[in-house]
Amino acid sequence: MPPDGSLPQGALEDLAQRPFGIYVHIPFCRTRCGYCDFNTYTAAELGGGASREGYAELAIKEIRFARRLLGTAPPSVSTVFFGGGTPTLLPPNGLAAILSAVDGEFGLAPGAEVTTEANPESVDQRSLGELRAAGFTRVSFGMQSAVDHVLSVLDRAHTPGREAKCAGWAKAEGFEHVSLDLIYGTPGESAADWKESLQAALATGADHISAYALIVEEGTRLAARIRRGELAAPDDDEMADRYLAADAEFGAAGLAWYEISNWAARDEGKCRHNLLYWTGGNWWGAGPGAHSHVGGTRWWNVRHPSAYAARISAGVSPGQAREVLAGEERRIERILLATRLAEGCPIGELSDTGRKAAATAVADGLAEGPALKAGRVVLTTRGRLLADAVVRDLTD
Ligand SMILES: C[S@@+](CC[C@H](N)C(=O)[O-])C[C@H]1O[C@@H](n2cnc3c(N)ncnc32)[C@H](O)[C@@H]1O
Ligand code: SF4
Repeated sequence: MPPDGSLPQGALEDLAQRPFGIYVHIPFCRTRCGYCDFNTYTAAELGGGASREGYAELAIKEIRFARRLLGTAPPSVSTVFFGGGTPTLLPPNGLAAILSAVDGEFGLAPGAEVTTEANPESVDQRSLGELRAAGFTRVSFGMQSAVDHVLSVLDRAHTPGREAKCAGWAKAEGFEHVSLDLIYGTPGESAADWKESLQAALATGADHISAYALIVEEGTRLAARIRRGELAAPDDDEMADRYLAADAEFGAAGLAWYEISNWAARDEGKCRHNLLYWTGGNWWGAGPGAHSHVGGTRWWNVRHPSAYAARISAGVSPGQAREVLAGEERRIERILLATRLAEGCPIGELSDTGRKAAATAVADGLAEGPALKAGRVVLTTRGRLLADAVVRDLTD
């Protein structure tokens, strides 16, 4: 990564061709959940050199840096996403200041989607009202489960039912879109527990739900507890059952899948920022460890907040390394991402072998026949359970 962050020739030309988004990473959490290995730090883990208080200013400096780097006629921003960590551990006026810098430097496109993730315990009606007034349009709460003993295995600090309150406050304050994250497959979670979580999530009236299979990440407290035999490892067949149960409950409530782990009510409920990632858009990711992509060049920032602060303060790129994707790598990536979407992957992306694999997937009940005739590979419900294997064959 060159210290000035400059991009290879050609990358900038792509900016005018596709939607452009900004991701802002907020690397702070009050406590660390036992399953999570995101790039986030509690006060005790942070050490010196980086503080929550000074963070908005650093992120704003990176936004300005991005504006200088991306040229004289930067694209307007169609989506902004504040993720973490727990963005709502910054006071609303800190998040508002960063959003205002995005608008000032690049300009928000009319109707831009502006999302923040939030831990349910980290907001109240007042802070949500302040975020709405500052221009946020969408809020995504980490609910994970509605069941006490499941939340406790996940080391979640919030009480069941808090997400319903949060969703109600968000709507009362005028948020157009509310999303919830759920996790299934937690050790000790029964089919009935999962159903309770699904129903509780739907009862909030959220227009978007993400449901993730629990991943046991190396180095987490959860992984250690499973290794010691204190908790059972998630079981693949059970995971598949949970996924099918989610898809059935969401479908009956009018939320349709549009990406393997994401369901939305109508087109307006879909997360446009994530769709931008999945459809080859360009984005700048600001903050420690954030990833960016512009015109086939992908880079990622240094991970630790102190190292990040040092780079930003010295006026050099916080980028740690980058890769420039070749045409063939970009094609494989397009297949990988598009196949996970309900819109599916155009067969024009596939090699001859890939097209044969698509026909086999239809014969095996993993892809939809009529869609293939119309030129796209669209996974069936069973295909979604085996998506990785299907993608492997399509990209052979
Ligand atoms: C950055 S967090 C969301 C916001 C906030 N930090 C919270 O947890 O409430 C993004 C989501 O990733 C999911 N996630 C994190 N670690 C995971 C894991 N090991 N397996 C499955 N999902 C995970 C959780 O559903 C979480 O809500
Ligand atoms: S799941 Fe969310 S709240 Fe928990 S440690 Fe990870 S980022 Fe923080």
